[in-house]
Amino acid sequence: MAKAKPFIKWVGGKGQLIEQLEALLPADFDKRENVTYIEPFVGGGAMLFYMLQAHPNIKSAVINDINSDLTTCYRVVRDNPTELIASLSEIQREYYALQTEEERKAMFMRMRDRYNTKALDKIENSTLFFFLNRTCFNGLYRVNKSNKFNVPFGKHVTPMICDTTTIYADSELLQNVEILNGDFEDTFKYITGETLFYFDPPYRPLSDTSSFNDYTKESFNDDAQRRLKRFCDKVHEAGCSFMLSNSDCLGKDEKDRFFDDLYKDYTIDRVWASRNINAVASKRGKLTEILVHNYSQEKKQSKSYVFNHQPTSRVADYEYTYGKRV
Ligand SMILES: C[S@@+](CC[C@H](N)C(=O)[O-])C[C@H]1O[C@@H](n2cnc3c(N)ncnc32)[C@H](O)[C@@H]1O
Repeated sequence: MAKAKPFIKWVGGKGQLIEQLEALLPADFDKRENVTYIEPFVGGGAMLFYMLQAHPNIKSAVINDINSDLTTCYRVVRDNPTELIASLSEIQREYYALQTEEERKAMFMRMRDRYNTKALDKIENSTLFFFLNRTCFNGLYRVNKSNKFNVPFGKHVTPMICDTTTIYADSELLQNVEILNGDFEDTFKYITGETLFYFDPPYRPLSDTSSFNDYTKESFNDDAQRRLKRFCDKVHEAGCSFMLSNSDCLGKDEKDRFFDDLYKDYTIDRVWASRNINAVASKRGKLTEILVHNYSQEKKQSKSYVFNHQPTSRVADYEYTYGKRV
């Protein structure tokens, strides 16, 4: 069977961090039976697709995101893959037939305006969501204060808009997945028996000028990060395991102990992540990511990726992980 993988490009996608996340799962994870997997900030779902294929002991899964057009795409991929594919191949054919960048941009602007009417049926809405994701600048998703998608044209000539194989593979895998659209706290009532939560909330911006967590018109501020920590406490008290990732503010500013203080009652690891989310190429680097969890033993098979000391400087951490630069 074809491999299921994210059908949408999403900022903060965890595709490159899977190995590190796997290493930090509970040591006895594969011995646990009938696991419920809950991902309250699913985004592109890299971890979801990985977990459902790598861990057959997961018997049920619940995903959630506050972005309703995104969760509609998940439902359409699950329930109407053939209709979606027909619609995507039609829009792809129309786009590929255009001869000039001017024509492609005009089509992009037309589709963006139509998407922003917010009055489309679920198939057309999802078709335009895919189309804009593939043809906009860097696959970003950003809305303005009036909730209108405002990412500019990305100048792609033949982007893959209709990936039939992935849509069918994802559809099959999503058959038993509960798809929710709401706030992350709404997932609490889906706990059943042995439950693992994976939280990948919008990143805390690494600098005052970056605002990459504007997926929605309400940005995820420090109060929201604290509310999430209280939710983690609740999940912990309910006897569940959780793992959480976020950007590492301490790796950038040695005085910024926001997450170290917030999650001091839990285990904090740091890993290198390649997050190509900066539009300025020179600013795209490998940044550290923090991973928090509430269990005592991790798998850590690929320990070389993980360091759990407090970083003293980014150069020291780089050398710790990769050896001296030559
Ligand atoms: C960093 S992204 C997740 C990335 C994802 N794990 C991946 O691999 O692609 C964070 C997601 O949280 C969603 N979000 C923001 N605020 C939320 C809230 N209060 N409750 C649930 N989801 C929220 C955003 O729409 C976004 O998709």
